[in-house]
Amino acid sequence: MRAVVHDRYGPPEVLRVDEVERPTPKDDEVLVRVHATTVTQTDCHMRRAQPFFWRFMLGLRRPKRRILGLELAGEVVELGRGITRFEVGDRVFGMAYQAHAEYACVREGGLLERIPAGMPFDEAAAVTDGFNQALGHLRGAGVREGTRLLVYGASGSCGTAAVQLGKRHFGAHVTAVCDTRNVELVRSLGADEVVDYLQEDFTRTGETYDVVLDAVGKHSYLRSRRALNEPGSYAATDRLYNIPLGLLTSRAKKRVVFTIELPPPRENPALLKQLLEAGTYRAVVDRRYPLEDVIEATRYVESWQKVGNVVLTLNGGAR
Ligand SMILES: NC(=O)c1ccc[n+]([C@@H]2O[C@H](COP(=O)([O-])OP(=O)(O)OC[C@H]3O[C@@H](n4cnc5c(N)ncnc54)[C@H](OP(=O)(O)O)[C@@H]3O)[C@@H](O)[C@H]2O)c1
Repeated sequence: MRAVVHDRYGPPEVLRVDEVERPTPKDDEVLVRVHATTVTQTDCHMRRAQPFFWRFMLGLRRPKRRILGLELAGEVVELGRGITRFEVGDRVFGMAYQAHAEYACVREGGLLERIPAGMPFDEAAAVTDGFNQALGHLRGAGVREGTRLLVYGASGSCGTAAVQLGKRHFGAHVTAVCDTRNVELVRSLGADEVVDYLQEDFTRTGETYDVVLDAVGKHSYLRSRRALNEPGSYAATDRLYNIPLGLLTSRAKKRVVFTIELPPPRENPALLKQLLEAGTYRAVVDRRYPLEDVIEATRYVESWQKVGNVVLTLNGGAR
């Protein structure tokens, strides 16, 4: 089968499409013929092995797993001997390792669900990672009905998920921060207020918030403090120094929260499916590339300009 492989850590150019052996499902796995997958910031962190700690998990000198990819949508084509929940022919979506390939094995008890009726593969591939990230950070920061939530970086994968979940699942009052080109998008996702950061600095408007979620990892606790209520939380999604900062500020009135859910809760895909079917959550897909254009797709993700998610299509496309 064709897959995107990399034999060393480095820039997008270390990626190439190659022939590799098709995987065989273990007893508790299904084999999925992948129709769509995504290039995420996590794929980029893993490919670069930056921050360095990734090497302790992925291989010190070179990657032990040569294939990246964490999200997929496709069709079940083979069942392990112990499978009871899925059948051959099921259209499924969720998280899987080594998804940048024509086929991938996924554990039945992992983050896998049937695709809601009528949802195309490209959209189904793009909903899970941002959703899991945003849900974990919002829960970790204690967001609930009536919380005044500000989402910084509201147009990215985690940001678009956080705006939708914050408003429509948790019932928070959501202020979204993005640049001019994305104002209408974040409004359509449910934001009550939008701050265009090219026009205005949210820390200087006089408004304050119970939670500032830095969905893109480009703001900071120190810069957000002025806009936090007491009690209030800066929810970080990146920068490892936020972990000790979280410990140092755990009893402060304005604290740092860095929630890491590895793996995300097993109930997440069922909740996601329910929200998709109810129309309270939707995929935001920016660009679609054929698998062969993975380097170009990756360069675009690393530009930090993607809106929502970037999809790779294969095996006949996205429908
Ligand atoms: N540590 C790790 O290993 C790890 C792994 C995976 C993800 N993460 C983190 O998870 C977070 C979510 O990633 P993601 O995939 O959601 O990001 P993303 O989709 O790539 O974010 C892209 C969006 O960020 C906005 N943006 C770029 N620079 C900005 C700035 N300086 N200020 C405000 N907005 C800016 C852009 O919108 P505008 O045009 O509106 O600015 C763009 O729409 C990131 O912090 C990422 O680093 C960390």
